[in-house]
Amino acid sequence: MKTFFAAVICGIFLLIFASIPLLAQPVGKSAVDKECSKCHNTKRIYSANKTPGEWESTVDRMIKKGAKIKPEEKDEVLKYLNTLNK
Ligand code: HEC
Repeated sequence: MKTFFAAVICGIFLLIFASIPLLAQPVGKSAVDKECSKCHNTKRIYSANKTPGEWESTVDRMIKKGAKIKPEEKDEVLKYLNTLNK
C-alpha cells in the first residue's frame, strides 16, 4: 500500500513538473499569434532575425501603428520574440 501511494505522489509531481514549461511559455506567443497577425501574417515575424534592441523598436513601431500590446504584455512578447532568433 505504501508503495502505491508513493507511486501516485511521484506521478502527480511528474505531471506538475511536466506542465510547468507548457504553462510558462505561451504568454508571449499567444499575444504575438493573436495581435501581430492582424495586419500581416506571422511568417514575417517568425522569419525575422533581430537583436533584442531591434525587436524592441519593431514592437514599439507596431504599437504606434495600432498593435494592441499592453505595457505588461510587452516584456513577455519581447522575451518570446528573442527566442525566435537563430
Ligand atoms: C496595425 C497593424 C499592425 C500590427 C497590429 C502589427 N504590425 Fe507589424 N507591420 C505592419 C506594417 C504596416 C508593416 C510594414 C511597414 C513597416 O515595416 O513599418 C509591418 C512590418 C512588420 C515587420 C517587418 C519589418 C521589420 O522591421 O522587420 C515585422 C517583423 C513586424 N511587423 C512585426 C510585428 C509584431 C511583432 C507585431 C505584434 C507586436 C506586429 N508586427 C503587429 C503593421 C502591423
